[in-house]
Amino acid sequence: MNGIQICGTGSYLPPISVENEAFTSIVETSDEWIRTRTGIVSRHIADRDTVSGMGAKAAKAALEQAGISPEQVDLLIVTTITADCSTPSTACIVQGLLGAENAMCFDVNAACAGFVYALDMARRYLCFPDVKTALVISTEALSRITNYEDRSTCVLFGDGAGAVVVRAANTPYGSHLGADGKGAPLIFSKNMIPKTPFSKEPMEENEFTKNPTAPCHIFMDGKETYKFSTRVMPLCIEESCKTAGIPVMDLSWIIPHQANYRIVQTAMKNLGLPMERAYLNIDHVGNTSSASIPIALDELHRSGRLERGQKIAVTGFGAGLVYAGAVFQW
Ligand code: ACO
Repeated sequence: MNGIQICGTGSYLPPISVENEAFTSIVETSDEWIRTRTGIVSRHIADRDTVSGMGAKAAKAALEQAGISPEQVDLLIVTTITADCSTPSTACIVQGLLGAENAMCFDVNAACAGFVYALDMARRYLCFPDVKTALVISTEALSRITNYEDRSTCVLFGDGAGAVVVRAANTPYGSHLGADGKGAPLIFSKNMIPKTPFSKEPMEENEFTKNPTAPCHIFMDGKETYKFSTRVMPLCIEESCKTAGIPVMDLSWIIPHQANYRIVQTAMKNLGLPMERAYLNIDHVGNTSSASIPIALDELHRSGRLERGQKIAVTGFGAGLVYAGAVFQW
């Protein structure tokens, strides 16, 4: 059995929704610029919610929909770039909140491609009989690493979580994952630089330590990321389709990382697919990094437009630079 069956999906968006207009009193911007350059109209911002708490809520919804109890989960993977703690893993915290006591747990950091990386890892575990049920959760509070003085990034990001329950299936599957580490300085958020009682010299300077962004704030070279994403998105889908033996034209849905409406438009054009086959919720969710694909997938699923047997593609890209695509049967 090489394929996957997604048995349930879930998502959670924090209650506060912030409209574009709210940014005009913080930075020099306009609703018109944000809408036309990105497709974003509003985004949700976490207030009281923790990253692990949001992940647990999305996972609970996915398990309920699948009719699977937390104790049945063998493998629990969380993807995040905004964990509440450096250790323990968010996966362990979520496991405790869910009572998924039989699951092995770990986190994956593959930035905005995290969900696709984790889904592909889950699929590989599911090839062996000791893992029957996997839970993949992507949860992010990007607002906690956003620099609200930088207009080129602060208008883009939002918070939320998405999750899927996955089992093995005898269906076609293909994936294409990769990274270009030379592009690491193009998008990053630094950890605090430690000073110990034994430090004699400042930490060596490199692209990350030299950058004037405050500790933890995300820096992004939007233009270079834009060029990279329009190149890798079609590549990931075409290569995944080749491995799965599915013609690109047979894909019913593309669920892309929700970074920019225009990136998706260009990628769809390059794939020769009509824009109607891309599912976009960037208008009311914004860019939630690794959570954006499972949140969109859950919305699409709950809207009743996914049919069993349809071939669908998911694709993400981001800091690393990383890229990932997977094609599977719904
Ligand atoms: N409001 C008004 N003007 C702005 C804003 C804003 N919020 N942000 C930038 N501008 C200005 C710039 O300063 C620039 O002004 P100038 O010409 O006077 O210098 C002008 O708008 C054009 O700037 P560009 O950077 O060329 O704008 P662009 O059309 O490329 O859009 C954007 C910027 C939206 C960031 C785009 O480059 C993009 O989407 N990049 C990809 C981002 C992405 O894919 N990220 C995914 C990975 S990161 C993650 O997901 C966590």
